[in-house]
Amino acid sequence: MNNYLKRIARYTVATTLAGLLAAPVFAAGGGAELEKADIDPGQIPSLQRGASNFMNYCSGCHSAQYVRFNTIGKHLELSEEQLVDNLMFNAEKTFETIRSAMPAADAERWYGTAPPDLSLMARARGADYIYTFLKSFYVQEESPTGVDNIVMPATSMPHVLWELQGYQRAVFSEHEETDSEGNVSTTVHFEHFEQVSPGTLDAEDYDIFVRDTVNFLAYIAEPIRGERRKIGTWVIMYLIVFFIIALMLKKQIWKDVH
Ligand code: HEC
Repeated sequence: MNNYLKRIARYTVATTLAGLLAAPVFAAGGGAELEKADIDPGQIPSLQRGASNFMNYCSGCHSAQYVRFNTIGKHLELSEEQLVDNLMFNAEKTFETIRSAMPAADAERWYGTAPPDLSLMARARGADYIYTFLKSFYVQEESPTGVDNIVMPATSMPHVLWELQGYQRAVFSEHEETDSEGNVSTTVHFEHFEQVSPGTLDAEDYDIFVRDTVNFLAYIAEPIRGERRKIGTWVIMYLIVFFIIALMLKKQIWKDVH
C-alpha cells in the first residue's frame, strides 16, 4: 500500500514537472509571435459583420454547435428577417445551432483532420492566436493545400480567405549556433511576409475582416459575458445598499450603550 502511494506521489510530481517543462515548449511550438487581435466585444456592428463573415467563410466546414441563431439574433440586435436572410443558410428554425455544411466524416476523409467545432475555440486558443492564424497562411508548393501556416505548421486547413487577402510568401532566416561541444545546429526563424498576389482587400481592410471574425468567435465562446457584467453591477449596488443599512442598524443598536 505504502509503495503504491509513493508511486502515485512520484507520478504526480513527474507529470507536474513534465507539464511545467512542456508549457513553454508548447507556447514556442509554432515559432511565431502572436499579434494582438485588439477586439472589442461591446461593438455590435463588428460582431454583426463577424457573424456574417463566419457564416460565409467558415461554416462550410466548421460548426458552432453550442450557439443558437435566436441567441445571436437577440444579442446582436438583428431582426428575425435579418437573421434568416443574412445568417441562416443551412438552418430553418431560429432555435437551431450552427451546423457545418459538411458531414464530419467526409471532412476527415478530405482534409485528414475534421475541422474542429469553433464554439469554444477562442477560449481554448485565445483571440490573438486565431487572429494571427488567419493572417499567417503562406504559399508552400509541397503542401497538399498549396499553403502552410506559420502559427500552425503543416495545418490541413486551406487558405480559405485567399480571395480577400491574396497570397503571400514567408521569408525565413537561418542561424547557425555552435554549442560548447562544438556541434553546429541550424535554426530557422520566420522574418516577415511578402505579398505575391493581391486580394480584393488591402492589408488594412483584411485586418478588419479578420478582427470582426475573431470578435464574433470570442463572443460565441462566451455569449453571456455582457449579461454577466450587468449582473455584476447589480450585485455591487446591492452590496453598497446593504452595507449602508447595516451601518445604520449598528448605530441604532449601539446608540443606548454609549
Ligand atoms: C475548407 C474547409 C475549411 C474552412 C472553410 C475553414 N476551415 Fe478552419 N479548419 C479546417 C480544417 C481541416 C482544420 C483542421 C486543421 C488541422 O488540424 O490541421 C481547421 C482548423 C481551424 C482552427 C484550429 C486551429 C488549431 O490551432 O487547432 C481554427 C481556429 C480555424 N480552423 C478557424 C477557421 C475560421 C475562422 C474560418 C473562416 C474564416 C475557417 N476556419 C474556415 C478547414 C476549414
